[in-house]
Amino acid sequence: MAVSKIMENTSCPSLPYDPAEFPRELQRHYISAGEEEIREMLDSIGLSDAQDLFSHIPGQLLFPDGIDLPDELEYNETAKTLQALSERTNLKNSFIGDMLPCWGTHPIVDFVSRLRPLTTSYTPYQPERSQGTLVTHWIYQCALSALTGFEAINTSLYDRSAALFEAIACAIRTSRRGSKILLAESLFDEDLEVLETLTKETEIQFSFAKICPDSGVLDHSELQSLTEEDTNEFAAFVFPQVNKFGLLENVDTLADFAKERGMRSIASIDPMLLATGGLKPPTDFGSEGVDFIAGEAQHLAIPPSFGGPGLGLFGCRFNEERKKDLRSTPGRYIGKAKDVNGRDCFVMVLSTREQHIRKEKATSNICSNQAFLATLAGASLLAKGELGLQESLQNALDSKDKVLAEILTCEGVKSAFAQTPSFNEVTLELDCSVDSLIEKGREADLHVGVDVSQRSCGGKKRNLLKLTFSDLQDDEAIDSLIRFFHMEFPRLKDSGGASSPRDSNPAFYRQEPANLPSFSYDELTQYYEQLADLNVSPDDGCYPLGSCTMKYNPMLNDWAAGLPGFSQVHPQAPEEDAQGPLSVLYETQEWFAKITGLAAVTTQPVAGAQGELVGIKLFQAYHRKRGEEHRNVVFIPKSAHGTNFATAAMAGYPDGIVYLRANAEGTIDMEDFAEKINSYGDRLCGVMITNPNTSGIFENRFHEIAEAVHEVGGLVYMDGANMNAIAGIVDLAALGVDAVHNNLHKTWTIPHGGGGPGDAIVAVSEKLTDFLPGKQIYKDGEGIFRSRRPKFSIGSFHRHWGNFGHKVRAYSYLLRMGKEGVPRMSSTAVLSSRYLLSKLEGHYPALPACGGKSPRMHEFILTLSEEDFDRLEKAGIPKSQAIPQVGKLFLDFGFHAPTVAFPEVFGLMIEPTESYGVSELDRFADAVVAIKEIIEEHPEVLASAPHFTPIDRVDEVGANRNLCLREKLEHLPALPFNRVKPSILQDLSPGEIKERILDAVRNTG
Ligand SMILES: Cc1ncc(COP(=O)(O)O)c(C=O)c1O
Repeated sequence: MAVSKIMENTSCPSLPYDPAEFPRELQRHYISAGEEEIREMLDSIGLSDAQDLFSHIPGQLLFPDGIDLPDELEYNETAKTLQALSERTNLKNSFIGDMLPCWGTHPIVDFVSRLRPLTTSYTPYQPERSQGTLVTHWIYQCALSALTGFEAINTSLYDRSAALFEAIACAIRTSRRGSKILLAESLFDEDLEVLETLTKETEIQFSFAKICPDSGVLDHSELQSLTEEDTNEFAAFVFPQVNKFGLLENVDTLADFAKERGMRSIASIDPMLLATGGLKPPTDFGSEGVDFIAGEAQHLAIPPSFGGPGLGLFGCRFNEERKKDLRSTPGRYIGKAKDVNGRDCFVMVLSTREQHIRKEKATSNICSNQAFLATLAGASLLAKGELGLQESLQNALDSKDKVLAEILTCEGVKSAFAQTPSFNEVTLELDCSVDSLIEKGREADLHVGVDVSQRSCGGKKRNLLKLTFSDLQDDEAIDSLIRFFHMEFPRLKDSGGASSPRDSNPAFYRQEPANLPSFSYDELTQYYEQLADLNVSPDDGCYPLGSCTMKYNPMLNDWAAGLPGFSQVHPQAPEEDAQGPLSVLYETQEWFAKITGLAAVTTQPVAGAQGELVGIKLFQAYHRKRGEEHRNVVFIPKSAHGTNFATAAMAGYPDGIVYLRANAEGTIDMEDFAEKINSYGDRLCGVMITNPNTSGIFENRFHEIAEAVHEVGGLVYMDGANMNAIAGIVDLAALGVDAVHNNLHKTWTIPHGGGGPGDAIVAVSEKLTDFLPGKQIYKDGEGIFRSRRPKFSIGSFHRHWGNFGHKVRAYSYLLRMGKEGVPRMSSTAVLSSRYLLSKLEGHYPALPACGGKSPRMHEFILTLSEEDFDRLEKAGIPKSQAIPQVGKLFLDFGFHAPTVAFPEVFGLMIEPTESYGVSELDRFADAVVAIKEIIEEHPEVLASAPHFTPIDRVDEVGANRNLCLREKLEHLPALPFNRVKPSILQDLSPGEIKERILDAVRNTG
């Protein structure tokens, strides 16, 4: 699209911050090193040109003339363009909720979203420097536990359908009854589609409990007619509390039915509706409550944002009677802990189940989650509190009562399931086409609801319109909806058809208050500011986590994602009114096809790990179409990220993973590869290779490997987590890639949010375009953006369009980068890394040793010499603990630690990125050298590290042994204070910090 066209009539928007106050914000391409500094770094490593950084990569793999993207835009132009795009959206008074409920967001959300050390920090693997994030997640766990009654709430999965899938996987693991599942037909069709997509080619099989066409809820007599023999086969029964027609299922009967028949029970719930004055908590379903809960909680945190990022709620029981399930569950949990000096603190627990440790035996492939949404949801619940939530629910119910009292009197409008209780939603049956009514509604500036006529409900075709009420509809919206119905259905019925009054039947409603605490806005803003102070951010300096690409996250991106034309659009709004979001998705598809050199792109996957799964599922579909579904082997290099193995297992190949060995140069061993191709070629589904690999080395034989794989009929997946080294430079089509994911939260500047949301875009070769999941966006003859399913689509990985908010952020970044910026980003990232390595390699050995034969790309791995390991051992630090303890010393210097013990057990993986100028890199290098001096001169210091963080080293073993995952939140958790603030450390030289550390150790004796 001609980007300049978009903004012709738009004035420069006013931003809620002054970019001039944030020096990184206005740098060209967000790269701090100017041309002179780039020259200086090139000179210092003996290269004459940035292109020389890639001279070891065969020329035919490089884009000969760069990439065909538009020119970059200036800061203000970018803002104008994004504003203009967002203004293509038509926001209207809306009664759409359905799969993604919408409720008012509290101002605390905006406030917390601007606390950069919370939004931009990494997953809290270093608890001593991440108490800020950890406390926010603790609050989330406790608040959700209060609403649901569940003792163990994990700190988020991607969204409701992902949570349902994981609950099913848990039920299968824990029930030992095989892998058949009974699913309620009354769950959302789109959730069911995701489940079908995820489980195709696996052993999991679904049967369906039918809806009764008259009541619109599950047919209990049909359920009871299932014989013991039938139900003995089912590992679990999955049902919703509020179903796809907005009706309340009889959860007591359903939970008891599962229990009596020995099935695990999984309830799909909406946590918002469980507040006081709302629905019954799932611990009270039937005689004992359900075993697992799964649900969407995005609306507790943020507006609809065209469907994402979502917030997948997942919980299991964890009490004296029911303790075992927890260890079979996926994802992250925060537990109460003590540091080694007895201070109270928090830490991630149970991580030995995760893929970075257990690879294909992990409980799930989930890595980045929706952590920041959990942070926001926690803050929002505390701000709204018991009364605020109750009021919101009451508003919704009052609106619904008012509307129904007025419109059910119209001839041609009736409640589709009048005898069945509902809460804040209603499905109407109309005597006219729902489609055209929705269209007329648009003309009256209304989104009147969702057409649910196609949803299966016993076969009979009915005209069904579903309306959702919340605290967002004001009097004017309610009145205009009523006026609209009175215009369209002017004749009145003889007798009013008012809805059945709401009762407080304990079968459906909460009987006891939820007892959520509430805090004032001022209390919370102060508290969350203190929390932010306990973290560090890539804003403040090098955040050297290898593999994670912790670069600067532009504030402009966040501003853009918050524009109403992007953030307030419901993903089920008519496409004509959602042109802002659709245009961003369209542009994103186009730009990433060019960046990768591949044929097509899906923007639906919500994380790198999910992108991997999309890739393997595409491979399976391709092979199936060719009659080669017997291909069940996946090659993965041994050093790959844990998600690769876990993904292959999740896709149905737990026994089909074949490890590829590395050679002395740190790349794939071609002899070993050739042997494996010989042995498994005819069964090969595909390979998954990270490039550059996890040691920061470009796989120079990738192209040969791809050719050999193609020759035997397999396909090639590239894990693109390290695209920051090659984007805009290496042509993935020339490399032989069939599918690749780009982690948006790495290369493409999406904030990490303390562990998520991540995001991914998957690009594919021509062979796979017809199989892509979700919908592709295209422009029709009139320039309107529309969507369609690819011909042989593998299905869907998300209830809607994926993490849309992140596509806005990535697109905002790309507008500022343009065709020159993308390759400049990669070359500067590689240059910074080589420059830093050249400063450090005289002090630390690098891994893999490889005799200097493999030039490092954007990251490198350091280790200690055997003498240093010995020194530390003598000071009481065993070799197995040495590297993690070195990591803790980085915290004392005001930096985050590098990645420790991955992919090399004795390695520290460092990735500086392109965000930092020479003086910042030099200062970081000086700190790493000072750490080395401490190891040599005072090895005992490492035993007590870290010294300046708010807490001492955390007793993780103790926290895991005595798991405490929630408490009643009567007050805000007490906070430790920074012994030395990172901002003070930033003003000291590494030499001065070293002296302070030594003093601190001497003083504590
Ligand atoms: C090499 C590699 N592959 C895959 C992933 C998984 O990505 P995500 O966290 O987005 O699921 C990561 C994440 O750190 C990674 O480093």
